[in-house]
Amino acid sequence: MKTLQFQDRLSLDSLVMRERPVPIPAAREVLVRVRAVSLNYRDLAIARGEYGNYELPLVPGSDAAGEVVGLGSGARRFGMGDRVCLAYVPDWVAGPIRASVAQRRLGGPADGVLSEYLCVHEAELVRAPDNLSALEAATLPIAGVTAWQALIEDGGLRPGDVVGVLGTGGVSLFVLQIARAAGARVLVVGRDADRLARARAMGAETVNSTTDPAWERRVLELSGGQGVDRFVDVVGGAALARSVEATRVGGTVCAVGFVGGRAAEIDIVALVRRALTNRAASAGSRASFEALVRAIETQALHPVVDRVFAFDLAGVRAAFAYLAEGHPFGKIVIDLGSEC
Ligand SMILES: NC(=O)c1ccc[n+]([C@@H]2O[C@H](COP(=O)([O-])OP(=O)(O)OC[C@H]3O[C@@H](n4cnc5c(N)ncnc54)[C@H](OP(=O)(O)O)[C@@H]3O)[C@@H](O)[C@H]2O)c1
Repeated sequence: MKTLQFQDRLSLDSLVMRERPVPIPAAREVLVRVRAVSLNYRDLAIARGEYGNYELPLVPGSDAAGEVVGLGSGARRFGMGDRVCLAYVPDWVAGPIRASVAQRRLGGPADGVLSEYLCVHEAELVRAPDNLSALEAATLPIAGVTAWQALIEDGGLRPGDVVGVLGTGGVSLFVLQIARAAGARVLVVGRDADRLARARAMGAETVNSTTDPAWERRVLELSGGQGVDRFVDVVGGAALARSVEATRVGGTVCAVGFVGGRAAEIDIVALVRRALTNRAASAGSRASFEALVRAIETQALHPVVDRVFAFDLAGVRAAFAYLAEGHPFGKIVIDLGSEC
């Protein structure tokens, strides 16, 4: 089978394609033929050596969908041919995150998913939604689950709430889709008129931060002068303080990402005056993922796949380069044989 790996350093120049034997499932393990892998910003940060020092060689990629093609002895959760996704934080089965389950993550520090076959413990798999292709299902484990965790599992979103979100990338469009399906209003703040028009077509109200640099004031206006109930901030850096300004008294700001910078300065008085809940999301549990799958099927949701790339060295490098440009509309996916 073909496996991609960072050979001797965490850098896109160090990516090589290797031939490895197809693994044999041990007791309670499942052999998965990977059909599609979606990229996340963390994969790029890891490839740039900006996200930690991991043991090499390392297989990149954190999000995969495929089908069951082998069962180890005693493996009963799935049957041959079942369509599955891998849980990105494999030890986090249910409930709130704890240190004991938070460490092992696919794509670093654990080997990732850019491989034609993977063997995993049966507990680390989630049934893929019936209504999604493999290319679509591969977008769920990080971006979809994080949005679900931020809004529903930890966020307690209710119909009629107003949600603010920055950007139109992977996580942001899941926030839009999940919040709309839950009966919320969604205000998307983005930098590009065309991408914002596409977000409006998905049910968003939009604020263009390029033409309206004081975007937090516009968000306040659109939310009746009060601010939104919940703000999901995937940009971080200087944006986080403005997300706080755009959120109502007693509301919640969920820090998810750092595409605009890792360090943020926040006026504590602004937080205190609003008695805000300031929280962070770190993906979600398998139970959260399973709840997301049910919602996707019930609401007939389809994740937004921006571009699909081939599973070869040139294709994967092009996918990373496209992600690095910084303005995907939805998810970037690598096809490992989705038509098979
Ligand atoms: N905590 C977690 O569990 C978790 C899970 C998933 C992702 N994340 C993090 O969340 C962030 C977003 O992830 P993603 O997968 O959604 O990324 P993405 O698909 O690359 O999308 C990011 C979006 O943010 C906007 N953007 C990009 N650079 C920006 C900048 N410098 N200033 C303002 N806006 C900018 C762009 O939208 P517009 O051009 O429309 O503005 C872009 O489409 C990343 O930092 C990622 O590591 C965290």
